[in-house]
Amino acid sequence: MKPWQKLLRWFDREGRKLPWRGTRDPYRILVSEIMLQQTQVSRVIDFYRAWMKRFPTWNALAKASNAEIIHSWAGLGYNRRGLALRDIAKHVVHDGVPKSREAWLALKGIGPYTADALATFSLHERRWPIDTNLRRVGGRLWLGKPYPQPVDDERIRKYSASFIQHSPRFYDLPQAAFDLATSICTKTPACSMCPMKDDCLAAPKFLSGKVKTPKQMVKKSIERIHHGKKFPDRIYRGRILKAVRERSAGIDIDRLGQIVDDAFDNKQDMVWLEQMVQRLVQDHLVSRSKQRVTLPR
Ligand code: ADE
Repeated sequence: MKPWQKLLRWFDREGRKLPWRGTRDPYRILVSEIMLQQTQVSRVIDFYRAWMKRFPTWNALAKASNAEIIHSWAGLGYNRRGLALRDIAKHVVHDGVPKSREAWLALKGIGPYTADALATFSLHERRWPIDTNLRRVGGRLWLGKPYPQPVDDERIRKYSASFIQHSPRFYDLPQAAFDLATSICTKTPACSMCPMKDDCLAAPKFLSGKVKTPKQMVKKSIERIHHGKKFPDRIYRGRILKAVRERSAGIDIDRLGQIVDDAFDNKQDMVWLEQMVQRLVQDHLVSRSKQRVTLPR
């Protein structure tokens, strides 16, 4: 049996039933992929279902105001993703659904990974969308690298082409690999349980116990932390947006500081707060009129 046949057999038995699977609908696929960027599957599921009820079509989403999007995205984090998704919907309503990977890639907010995901899951082009999960599975299986890095992507893509070439269900192979990546092919993999253990170039290394687990697999992206503060700015920006979202009339900036940070110092921290609000204004997540901060219209 070919490795991809083993993977599919395992997937049919052990794969997760996720609400964005079993469809070629580009809208459902795009919503899921955008939500899954930097948010775990278990957290995304309920948000995805609620979103689909609220905005079932490109049309419904394209009509949504910034404020509606911000309310509906609440809790998912990285709120700009919600606005970017709405802007893509506007584009699709205006110009039609892109018909190729390249046409998807031309849209603002769609990167190579998302274009590949849409190409394979919706357009049924043969692609291996490389995120951290599919990099890990592919890099181990084909390159024998226990902890593959982005520099390995080109070779991973090359090998993936032969892996997906002969399967009539090639579009299910990346989905299967997502599930393998989060259940068996994890940071410290359970190779003895893997359906492709006899095909994987890294499995013998892991099974012999010779692989050392790196402490930090991917470099944490450097986050800005204001002097003396407990959390990165991202956390305070999230709190500012929450405070504004929860008050339909908005809130004055001189009251915001205390709400988002117990230790807020009205003298020392005001410039910092102003800068964070300014950044939210630039991202169209809030509006500012004199002292008042509100959701954008
Ligand atoms: N991570 C990114 N895309 C995914 C998908 N479609 N299913 C599960 N995990 C994913």
